Amino acid sequence: MKIVVIGKSGQLATELSYLANDEIEIICLGRHDINIEDKSAIEKALTHLNPDAVINAAAYTAVDLAEKESEQANQINGYAVGYLAQVCNSLAMHLVHLSTDFVFDGNNSTPYLTTNKHAPVNTYGASKAIGEKLLIEIMPKNSCIIRTAWVYSTHGNNFVKTMLTLMENKPELGVISDQIGTPTYAKTLAKACIHAAVNKLSGIYHWTDQGVARRYDFAVAIQELALEKNLISKNIPIKAITTADYPTPKKAKF
Ligand SMILES: NC(=O)c1ccc[n+]([C@@H]2O[C@H](COP(=O)([O-])OP(=O)(O)OC[C@H]3O[C@@H](n4cnc5c(N)ncnc54)[C@H](OP(=O)(O)O)[C@@H]3O)[C@@H](O)[C@H]2O)c1
Repeated sequence: MKIVVIGKSGQLATELSYLANDEIEIICLGRHDINIEDKSAIEKALTHLNPDAVINAAAYTAVDLAEKESEQANQINGYAVGYLAQVCNSLAMHLVHLSTDFVFDGNNSTPYLTTNKHAPVNTYGASKAIGEKLLIEIMPKNSCIIRTAWVYSTHGNNFVKTMLTLMENKPELGVISDQIGTPTYAKTLAKACIHAAVNKLSGIYHWTDQGVARRYDFAVAIQELALEKNLISKNIPIKAITTADYPTPKKAKF
C-alpha cells in the first residue's frame, strides 16, 4: 500500500514517516512538493505518485496568530481541504484528514460526541470547521476526519517543548488551571491515522490518548519527568493561574 502524507515538517507527519514498513510505503510531501492552497499542485503531485491513500497532516496551526491571519487560516484549513477532497475524490484515493477539538467551544463538561454541532469560538476552530464541512460535502465516502487535541512530540512547536524551555530559563512559572484536555502523543496519533488509511475508515472520529489533565497538571508532570530524565537542570515553582490571568486573543476552554 502506498500512502502520501502532506505536511512533511510537522509533528504528526514526522511521526508518520517513521511508520513505513515492508507493506506500507509512506511518501511525505512538504509545502514545496505540494502546496495545498494550489489545486493544480495537488492534482499534479497526486496523479504522479498515484497513492492508495492520502493523509492530510498539513494545517495552519498558529491558534492565536490566526486571529490576525484569518484569510490564511481559512485558506489552508478550510478551502484547501476542499481542493484536496475534489482531487482525491476524482482520483479515487482514500483521504484521512486531521481536525481539532477547537471546532467546539469547550463548554461541555462531558466528552464531545462526533455528532455534536460545530461551535468554534476562535478563527482557528472556524477555519478547521470550514475544512470539515467541505470534505463531508465533496467526499462523504472514502474519507474520514480524525479530530484530536493537545498534540505533542519531540518535533515542531508544542506545549511540552515550550514548558521545557520556560522551565530551564525562568525562575517560576504560571500555568493555566481552568483548561482541561487530553495530551496526545503524535506517535500514537500517527498509528491511528495509518489504521484509518489501511482500513479505509469513513466518517468522523475523536481520537486522543487516554486521560484528562488541566494544563497546570500537564506542566507539573512534564517537570517531574524532565527532572527524572535530566532534560532540565532545576526545579522551579509552578503556580496555577486562570485563563483570565493569561490574555490570549480568543478563548476556548481547551
Ligand atoms: N498541534 C496540536 O496540538 C493539534 C491539536 C488538534 C489538532 N491538530 C491537527 O493535527 C494536524 C497535525 O498537526 P501538527 O501539530 O502536526 O501540525 P504542525 O506541526 O503545525 O505541522 C503543520 C504542517 O503543515 C504544513 N503546511 C502549512 N500550510 C501548508 C500548505 N499550504 N501546503 C502544504 N503544507 C502546509 C506546514 O509546513 P511548513 O512547516 O512549511 O509551514 C507544517 O509542516 C493538523 O490538522 C492540526 O490542525 C493539532
